[in-house]
Amino acid sequence: MTAPYRAAITGLGAYLPEKILTNFDIEKIVETSDEWIRTRTGIRERHVAAPDQSSSDLALPAAQEAIKNAGLTARDIDLIIVATVSPDMLFPSTACYLQAKLGASCGAFDMAAACSGFPYAVAVAEGFVKSGLYKNVLVVGAEAITKFINWKDRSTCVLFGDGAGAAVISRSKDGHGLLASNLGADGNESKILQIPAGGSMIPPSEESVRNGLHFLRMAGPELFKIAVKTMEQAVREVLKHENLEVKDIHCLIPHQANHRILEAVANRLELPLEKIFINVDRYGNMSSASTAVALYEAVKTGVIKKGDYVVLVAFGGGLTWAANLIKW
Ligand code: UT7
Repeated sequence: MTAPYRAAITGLGAYLPEKILTNFDIEKIVETSDEWIRTRTGIRERHVAAPDQSSSDLALPAAQEAIKNAGLTARDIDLIIVATVSPDMLFPSTACYLQAKLGASCGAFDMAAACSGFPYAVAVAEGFVKSGLYKNVLVVGAEAITKFINWKDRSTCVLFGDGAGAAVISRSKDGHGLLASNLGADGNESKILQIPAGGSMIPPSEESVRNGLHFLRMAGPELFKIAVKTMEQAVREVLKHENLEVKDIHCLIPHQANHRILEAVANRLELPLEKIFINVDRYGNMSSASTAVALYEAVKTGVIKKGDYVVLVAFGGGLTWAANLIKW
């Protein structure tokens, strides 16, 4: 069945908090080295939110830029979806805080798909626009994830950074836009990447805090293997919708967790590394903000041009994975 409308990304925005933490700064906090971090992950530095900056504060300037670039005002937005796993609070949603800060008047909700959050939210927005229910949907990946990091745990604290990226998804007037999306999840692997406490399973208590259960935990090496496999599969799946092949991709925008993961994905897909947009060196892993900021930078720097086939792909806690195929 063909959808009544097409959907396209019509405006992008991004925001990175001011403070930069280099690998050399982290050498002073835990027993690690710039050399280990660079060679094992490709990360050189990351941005860190100020103590008084929450995820909705990071989302706001990114959203404002995306709305302006789409030629709209906040009043034109019909729905706000914020992808985040570092929300301002358990509730109200970060999307509601953002809605108030923007001065928008529309529905708003959060999406918890961890690092796959942005491509997941893009797929949901695509559905709303294609169905004709909404004209302009604002999608934001926003994370102040460093607030959930144990700065005594060198296996995680060197990896993450904060930031936000935003996209406006509107009715497309030509043949360009979002062609297909596919979403995946495997809840059986939930323990590989999680923040165990603070929810209804392990409510906050003195004991949960003493045991550091409010911090992000990750089985890095296990996740590495799954990441490579799921990203490869998600890319191949989404291409099938339009009978395209890997060689048709002009630019792959992947989740930025580790440079070595991206090299392995490039190898498995037989896609030249130059076709993969990489900024993990400057930002680390920003969870749901990673693909959003990478897309913004790829468009802004002219890496993505009109008519290009672009694939967004991510994986993360859940486990979740997602891909979007776009004709720019
Ligand atoms: O967005 C969510 C998705 N996240 C990911 O996809 C992350 C996927 N995983 C990874 O990127 C990698 O597994 C890591 C970067 C997390 C770890 O790299 P690794 O090459 O898999 O290292 P490892 O965990 O196997 O550790 C190797 C060694 C260990 O020492 P021993 O046991 O060999 O003596 C660690 O203790 O490196 C040690 N190590 C460190 N050394 C210096 C772990 N972290 C550090 C560190 N500095 N920060």
